[in-house]
Amino acid sequence: MGVNILGMGAYVPEQKLTNDDFTRFVETNDEWIRTRTGIVERRMAGWEPTWYMGVKASMKAIERSGIDPAEIGLVISCSATADFHTPSMASIIQDAVGAVNAGAFDLNAACTGFVYALDTARRFVDSDGGMKYVLIVANEALSKFLDFEDRGSCILFGDGAAAAVVERSSKLFASALRSDGSGAGLLCARALNTASEIKTEAPEGFSDSFPELKPHKLFQNGKEVYKFATQALPKSFELAAANTGITKDDIDWFIPHQANIRIIETAAKKLGVSMDKFIVTLDHFGNTSSASIPLALNEAIEKGIIKRGQKLALIGFGAGLTYGGIILEY
Ligand code: COA
Repeated sequence: MGVNILGMGAYVPEQKLTNDDFTRFVETNDEWIRTRTGIVERRMAGWEPTWYMGVKASMKAIERSGIDPAEIGLVISCSATADFHTPSMASIIQDAVGAVNAGAFDLNAACTGFVYALDTARRFVDSDGGMKYVLIVANEALSKFLDFEDRGSCILFGDGAAAAVVERSSKLFASALRSDGSGAGLLCARALNTASEIKTEAPEGFSDSFPELKPHKLFQNGKEVYKFATQALPKSFELAAANTGITKDDIDWFIPHQANIRIIETAAKKLGVSMDKFIVTLDHFGNTSSASIPLALNEAIEKGIIKRGQKLALIGFGAGLTYGGIILEY
């Protein structure tokens, strides 16, 4: 059994940050950012809490699905940039959208979050007495964790949210989820605001690959993450497609995690798929972590590019290091 994506919605902050705007914080320029990443501008949350962006995206998704929010059985938020350690983003969103009969929890698989959440949702609607509808919300405010002194990372990310209402369906669905935690130290941010409260060295018998981290700021080893990403994207498709009889030629649209155009181009080449089949929105949204795949999906649906009945491959990677793919019929 699979899922049917009934309706989607999105919310991005009004505030835009162009590449030129970054010259105020770091030594960089528009030409470098465009050619090395493909990013032209991104949105940055100002007054908007992360949960608020999730609520706005969810309301749109519920409205477009034409459902009664009281029939939602579960809300999953896959934010990697939650406003609170507790409560979950999902509980706040569940209340705000009137999902009065729903359970709620957060799931953090970083930028692969939407892929993980969609696969998780499928298992909840598919079980005995399964839920009628699951609301998945990818809401991210990377800007709150960015190190605006690190030109190699701060220019890459943006803020935004996208949500989807899904229901049980017999349509095509195949998935694969993976993690390689040996790369945990390559892309990371500590949870707490005060470095002094955290032991920095792993106890004896455990390895710790984390570098010296600034409190609450995102650290990235760009080169190593790049290498991982160019392997992880094609592998995510191949793992999801394994044993399904589906090949790349059956896929109408690939919706990859939107991190860097060069990563997507390399993945497309490795898969032997034309870039014309890849949905790309990173030029105007940057990397919005778990929101990047659903933001791209939502935009392509809104523009009429993705149509009902088409076969989609959602392929993601991110901190963890996580990666994973879903093949489904829209
Ligand atoms: N503006 C101008 N110069 C910059 C810069 C910026 N924003 N960021 C880095 N540079 C400089 C570097 O300091 C380096 O200078 P040097 O040669 O004098 O030392 C030079 O540009 C080349 O740096 P390098 O790191 O080799 O660039 P790159 O082509 O590898 O691109 C990334 C850097 C970060 C764009 C790239 O590694 C990347 O995309 N990695 C993956 C990141 C990612 O996807 N993260 C999210 C995963 S979910």
